[in-house]
Amino acid sequence: MKIDNTTPVWITGGASGLGAACVSMALDKGAPVVVFDLAADGVADKGVTTINCDVSDATAVSQAIAKAKDAGGLPRVLINCAGIAPAQRTVSRKGPHDPDLYRKVIEVNLLGSFYMASQAAALMADAEALEHGERGVIINTASVAAYDGQIGQVAYASSKAAIAGLTLPLARDLASLGVRVCAIAPGIFYTPMLAGMPQDVQDSLAAQVPFPSRLGEPSEYASLASHIVANQMLNGEVIRLDGAIRMGPR
Ligand SMILES: NC(=O)c1ccc[n+]([C@@H]2O[C@H](COP(=O)([O-])OP(=O)(O)OC[C@H]3O[C@@H](n4cnc5c(N)ncnc54)[C@H](O)[C@@H]3O)[C@@H](O)[C@H]2O)c1
Repeated sequence: MKIDNTTPVWITGGASGLGAACVSMALDKGAPVVVFDLAADGVADKGVTTINCDVSDATAVSQAIAKAKDAGGLPRVLINCAGIAPAQRTVSRKGPHDPDLYRKVIEVNLLGSFYMASQAAALMADAEALEHGERGVIINTASVAAYDGQIGQVAYASSKAAIAGLTLPLARDLASLGVRVCAIAPGIFYTPMLAGMPQDVQDSLAAQVPFPSRLGEPSEYASLASHIVANQMLNGEVIRLDGAIRMGPR
């Protein structure tokens, strides 16, 4: 499927970073865009439907999805970028990992993606079939931490490993509806999360990337998302987008 003015694109976390780059990509192609974000109000792009929503709240997601459908009809593409990455060791001087923090990371990164994917897929099923019976495409965001989780990333890495793990069964579940599912596992991208770190930390992270030795640009994430939508044979796959980085323990 091509992203054009007939392809409603729904993006979670679209107010910042990788999600915001996807908003720009979809707008450039003329698509109607809906952003779901805690801070959706902050999206300045004209023509974007913004819905403030906590994706980790299943009821809020149902209400937000109903609003999005009323505003712009059935979705064709869902890109899940909403996520959080707080760090804490399993055991630190303060004691064991805060169970509420662990739960929060799983709720936002894993449950939030699944609530959005399952509820958007149910609407995609009602859309008219396109070429080869295709009705929709869902892209989730994992991370290289799904495979190479670092010290302090136990909650984040396990939430992202679960995103990788749900990709194939989700694709299989939705195949009969003509809905494809992929995940992107980014390496280290220059987003507000990274930009807030000191320059020497950014330089050290960039130096760990074999080639190109730099941080990824959010537009490179959006470009892959656009390709996944366009390439019908991509399904049930997690794609690393990381300049060959393999993260060390710290
Ligand atoms: N930046 C990187 O290097 C990198 C690497 C690997 C994976 N990722 C993943 O990519 C995704 C986007 O990251 P980013 O760097 O663009 O981060 P970001 O902090 O710039 O953007 C995340 C967005 O998600 C929104 N959000 C957070 N919690 C939410 C919730 N409960 N409900 C709705 N919206 C919520 C935030 O408001 C924000 O707009 C995340 O899932 C992150 O884990 C990022």
